[in-house]
Amino acid sequence: MITGKYPNLRLRRTRKYNWSRKLVQENNLSSSDLIYPIFLIEGNNKKQMIRSMPGIYRYSIDQLGKIINKVINNKIPMVALFPSTPDNKKDKFGTEALNENNLVCRATRFIKKRFKNNIGVMADVALDPYTIHGHDGLLKNKYVINDKTINVLVKQSLLQAQMGCDVIAPSDMMDGRVGKIRKYLDKNKYHDVQILSYAVKYASNFYGPFRDAVGSRKSLKSDKKNYQMDFANSNESLREVALDIKEGADMVMVKPGLPYLDIIQKIKRNFKIPVLAYQVSGEYSLIKSGINNKLINEEAIIESLMCFKRAGASAIVSYFALDIAKKIQF
Ligand code: PBG
Repeated sequence: MITGKYPNLRLRRTRKYNWSRKLVQENNLSSSDLIYPIFLIEGNNKKQMIRSMPGIYRYSIDQLGKIINKVINNKIPMVALFPSTPDNKKDKFGTEALNENNLVCRATRFIKKRFKNNIGVMADVALDPYTIHGHDGLLKNKYVINDKTINVLVKQSLLQAQMGCDVIAPSDMMDGRVGKIRKYLDKNKYHDVQILSYAVKYASNFYGPFRDAVGSRKSLKSDKKNYQMDFANSNESLREVALDIKEGADMVMVKPGLPYLDIIQKIKRNFKIPVLAYQVSGEYSLIKSGINNKLINEEAIIESLMCFKRAGASAIVSYFALDIAKKIQF
């Protein structure tokens, strides 16, 4: 392994010039590694600031044309859609998730009609944007019940597939849902719709700004520890991934991102499946506020994304995707 010793070996030699650094660069970040999340709101001509996520907005559907054009021009392959559901459409059961005219369904139809397969559309499968309690599934005695929740999730998945969604992304952490969703999609002839499982989703403190963005923060009275993973655990992530691969996941996600690079690497070493990273809202807001307060410079964003590539991620969901894609075009 060790290839020489000083003074014959001087590792700084290849670091001396820009051209030379480029030649020996081990990893690369390009816009095709990125997925851009978009928050949706009702209304027309709306671009609404999200206080907890400076620089990120909620858009009404009529604004999507402009944004998707930018996404495509910057060679980002896929967007992820998240709804900020009006409170009067939320209930205990997340019924709005199954409404073919909900925000995600309308946005998917709009994007797919206008942009065809020039862009991939990914949508979360989980009930939290639609429930008054802010949990990802159905509650019984304050506990999220697994199997009954899956019955709703499979319907939500099929509906999204019917709308034209390319990648179904269950982010709910129910046991067994990937297999049930795969089966239901296949039965209805959606064999080609992909499943990106949020296989390893930690009960994280970094989701705060996102919950604000989709409006579930104020309703969520407890944590999600009885379904999302304990952040002390590592081997359990391999069990989650193994299960989801068996059930038919095409890709798996690790979430959050930066605090879990060890997990990405571990999964990549153990399974040869595409592993995606989600640089979540709390990570975005922390880095963004560091930049806004001039504590760190903008290149910190590229550094924070490159480490996912180093760890073995195939792609990264990031709120910085559009800004960074503009910068790294060459
Ligand atoms: C909901 C969901 C969450 C995120 C994506 N989908 C939040 C949660 O589980 O509470 C978080 C994304 C982010 O923080 O950027 N199933």
